[in-house]
Amino acid sequence: MEKTESQKDVLPTSEVFHPGIGSYQQVYRESVENRDDFWSKQAGILDWHKRWDKILDDSNPPFYRWFVNGKLNASYNAVDRHVLHGKRNKAAYIWIAENGDEKIVTYDGLYRRVNNFARALLDLGVKKGDKIIIYLPMILEAPVAMLAAARIGAVFSFVFAGFGAGALADRINDSKAKMIITADGAFRGGKIVELKKIVDEAVEMTSSISTIVVVKRTGIDIQMDEERDVWWHDVTKDSSVYIEPEWMDSNDPLYILYTSGTTGKPKGAVHGNGGYSVWVASTLRWAFDPKEDDRWWCAADIGWVTGHSYIVFAPLFLGLTSIMFEGAITYPAPDRMWEIIERYRVNLLYTSPTAIRTLMRFGEKYPAMHDLSSLRVLGTVGEPINPAAWKWYYEHIGHSNSPIIDTYWQTETGGFMIAPPLGLGLPPLKPGSGTFPMPGVEPVILDEKGHELPEEQKGYIAYKKPWPGMFLTLNNDPERYKKVYFEKYPGLYFCGDYAIKDKDGYYWLLGRSDEVLNVSGHRLGTIEVEDALISSKEVAESAVFGKPDSVKGEVIVAFVVLKEQYQDDGEIVQKLRKRIREDLGPIYVPEEIHIVKTLPKTRSGKIMRRVVKAVALNQLPGDISTLENSASVDEIKEAIQVFSTETGNP
Ligand code: PRX
Repeated sequence: MEKTESQKDVLPTSEVFHPGIGSYQQVYRESVENRDDFWSKQAGILDWHKRWDKILDDSNPPFYRWFVNGKLNASYNAVDRHVLHGKRNKAAYIWIAENGDEKIVTYDGLYRRVNNFARALLDLGVKKGDKIIIYLPMILEAPVAMLAAARIGAVFSFVFAGFGAGALADRINDSKAKMIITADGAFRGGKIVELKKIVDEAVEMTSSISTIVVVKRTGIDIQMDEERDVWWHDVTKDSSVYIEPEWMDSNDPLYILYTSGTTGKPKGAVHGNGGYSVWVASTLRWAFDPKEDDRWWCAADIGWVTGHSYIVFAPLFLGLTSIMFEGAITYPAPDRMWEIIERYRVNLLYTSPTAIRTLMRFGEKYPAMHDLSSLRVLGTVGEPINPAAWKWYYEHIGHSNSPIIDTYWQTETGGFMIAPPLGLGLPPLKPGSGTFPMPGVEPVILDEKGHELPEEQKGYIAYKKPWPGMFLTLNNDPERYKKVYFEKYPGLYFCGDYAIKDKDGYYWLLGRSDEVLNVSGHRLGTIEVEDALISSKEVAESAVFGKPDSVKGEVIVAFVVLKEQYQDDGEIVQKLRKRIREDLGPIYVPEEIHIVKTLPKTRSGKIMRRVVKAVALNQLPGDISTLENSASVDEIKEAIQVFSTETGNP
């Protein structure tokens, strides 16, 4: 295979940063050759209430169970044990508001808040095993609510506060949650998003919610239902309570996080208490090598898995100090991120390639305005990082002396799968490669039929063995869990991404092999956008796909056929955009919506999305022998041509 530019580029980082990869190789070998002993030692990264009887129960594949019969509590590990062991006054979070206000919460302060809200949950009738939804912006109540739920054994499902009412309602209905924790509103880019109003709309479409707890964040006027709604500050008045943690079975669920797939509604990945917790704490240590006094800034939103694992659980388990930032990285100016790093002397920064590309466009002068010398390690997540962005990050942010930890993983995997192991001895880095698997992870690159491919050949990445952080199942749908992830290659976990292993054993992640979109590192389903379009009264048919974009990785493009009685009156596109924004959320709004008379279809009437995409992107459409209506192809070409001429976009 032809080498890409990036693969030729090797930086001799082992000399710069670490002694080499010898210790990594040794640890990795032990993890796969001596699995039980390895995890037995590694699980000591947490405090257990009762030790497990067995490391892994694989008697009922693919439902793997780790640390069988072990008991622990995630909130105990996140707060109590630090309070008990000398970190009472250490900052757990330095929270920075959009307007620059700041709050420092110590481990003791967090412990008190968590106990206090756990009391409130119990008083409001939430019991072990109950499901609750958290729909909050980046405020301290978010980790507090997650940990309080974990403390009493309630299963939380955090819904990213950028999702619209329809997306929220789907998640309430699937989880059958009885409570929602939200805020009156959220500050975002200088505006207020009316969260409680969105919740009220969503709840109308559901039947399980009996209580809504509302944090007062913005002070905007909202409707409070006397029977159903309570204020956070009213239910947390008693600040000196202690709630005994519920000692959870290692394989009891900790949370459900919904993520997009290729078909149907988003699927609820269920993570457990034991394996997940060991995994996130271990992977953070292996990949980033955080030191006791470091300041860690994971600049994701807490509503996505990155925030769950690496703003909340892993850094708290390790007793670190985290920056938590409410605002947007370009507001009020493009140096916001650099200004925060300088002001708070951030040591470890973890963000997305889209964020880097966005800030890179503003030029070097913004980072150059600030002293970024506190930075020691830089990380990325969510999408492949192109070598140009990698180098910019490395040179202008890290001043060529901070390694880039490109972490590849998924909602389902719980934590990093492939990432440079700084904490175990860093290999030379290659811009755009996540380097090697984390200990315990055994990837393999396969062809369509499941044959292992030689080095340098692109194929599907799969995992041969279970690992502790893997999700337990899909909520309410164990069959779908088996079908989506374990059917393509029986006995292996199939994750839906393309990858290459190069001749030096480095892994290169090359993006999705299916119709899942990756917009700014956010995983979205084409099917969800198509469903939202079709549920608009004017729309008969739609085909949605991702178009490569130099900043966001991909943007959404939609082709739409209107019902006969509706015409393209010049306003319809705006109406559809607005509806998608309200229903699914702003990140789902297509960059382009084209109205056409027909879409390419097979003789049996199935829309050929792949042909729409290929024609629109001026690529070869592949096999079109089953295409019924070839005139539709010309229409797509024409729509794209008109669009390019009108907007000047290629
Ligand atoms: O396609 C891969 C891409 O993001 C997908 C997982 O999305 P999600 O579950 O939302 O989790 C995102 C945060 C972990 C993967 O299937 N992806 C994630 N990280 C990388 C990546 N692609 C390439 N390089 C990465 N570092």
